[in-house]
Amino acid sequence: MLAGKRILIVIGGGIAAYKVLEVIRRLKERGAEVRVILTRSGKEFVTPMTVGALSGQKVFSDLFDPTEEQDIGHIVLSRDTDLVLVAPATANLIARMANGIADELATASLLAAAAPIIICPAMNQRMWAHPATQRNAAQLAADGVRFIGPAEGRMAERGEAGVGRLSEPMEIVASVEAFFAEGERAKLLAGRHVLVTSGPTIEPIDPVRFITNRSSGKQGHAIAAAAARAGARVTLISGPVSIPDPLGVSIVRVETAREMLDAVFAALPADVAVMAAAVSDWRPSEVAAEKIKKAAGDPPPLSFVENPDILAMLGHDRQRPKLVVGFAAETTDVEANAARKLAAKGADYIVANDVSPDSGVFGGDRNNVHILSAAGVSTWPTLSKDEVAERLIALIAEQLG
Ligand code: C5P
Repeated sequence: MLAGKRILIVIGGGIAAYKVLEVIRRLKERGAEVRVILTRSGKEFVTPMTVGALSGQKVFSDLFDPTEEQDIGHIVLSRDTDLVLVAPATANLIARMANGIADELATASLLAAAAPIIICPAMNQRMWAHPATQRNAAQLAADGVRFIGPAEGRMAERGEAGVGRLSEPMEIVASVEAFFAEGERAKLLAGRHVLVTSGPTIEPIDPVRFITNRSSGKQGHAIAAAAARAGARVTLISGPVSIPDPLGVSIVRVETAREMLDAVFAALPADVAVMAAAVSDWRPSEVAAEKIKKAAGDPPPLSFVENPDILAMLGHDRQRPKLVVGFAAETTDVEANAARKLAAKGADYIVANDVSPDSGVFGGDRNNVHILSAAGVSTWPTLSKDEVAERLIALIAEQLG
């Protein structure tokens, strides 16, 4: 996973610096190329000799060393790298980074870095909790710097504990691996347009009343977010939901099935459509212009007409996306009903799930799905809706080739 990845590690001056030696070792083991800059105070905690022996590379520290600047200056150091990892990121180093201070080779390199930066804060818990540090950390987060930790536990100072410990070396290594994996994933659907429908539709009875269903939009929104993380341009067409908008997608908000239909066709062309919305199958045949009055002892009759089947229309349309994925929320005969839908709706895949009340799927965070296609059925284990979304996006990317 880390083979050939160039990682620049900035070691700050904190007691946890010795733990970073283990991080260097583990990153090297996984094939990463590791270069290290020690801050001036970092040198008080680990020696350039130890670090150099572990990284197998010359260790840098002094901004004003003429041989170093000729050899490989701070600009070059921070340029030829895929990731900058700052560990331990002390309160002082975080404060300097947050303010763009370049007072030594380490901070000058951080300021010149074009690569993403991940910092691993480590300091006494009171220093971490201090409003100044919190302000600086929030500034760095806003600047796009990522964080690993700090973790909670005992401090170097006897009798002190709290949030401020350096994350464990293996946790740091795992996060670095996850960072690169995320980068790989971001290429999966690059250049593709993915259309996702999500949430319920609501169908008015009169200006104040409507009928709807229990869809939370969690699964559809998770799919839209996963597609965006995979690098796709995503149009999410959503009925009314109370969950936050996913990052990096453009949202079209609709209420009724007919509005959703219009929005779907307006968003074409698309490479992929995932129809996760729980579209109301029927709508009241008439919508009263005024609020229906409560007449004594005489409840108004409600009659319904069928809504357009958006998925079936898209599945048989001339502008049909290359891949069309439908959902089948069933309470009985989940697989048999889903298999029928595959053909009827012109879909490539039907994601079938059991939404009977005791499944906890509606509104819940987990989902147990069966994936039906012409190739057959595969049943996935019970997963979080985010994991279902990740897997589905991986499957879609594989199918698109
Ligand atoms: O027929 P049923 O409603 O069970 O089919 C579910 C699938 O069809 C879902 O993918 C849903 O988004 C889609 N659908 C639709 N338009 C409808 C009804 C369902 O797109 N009117």
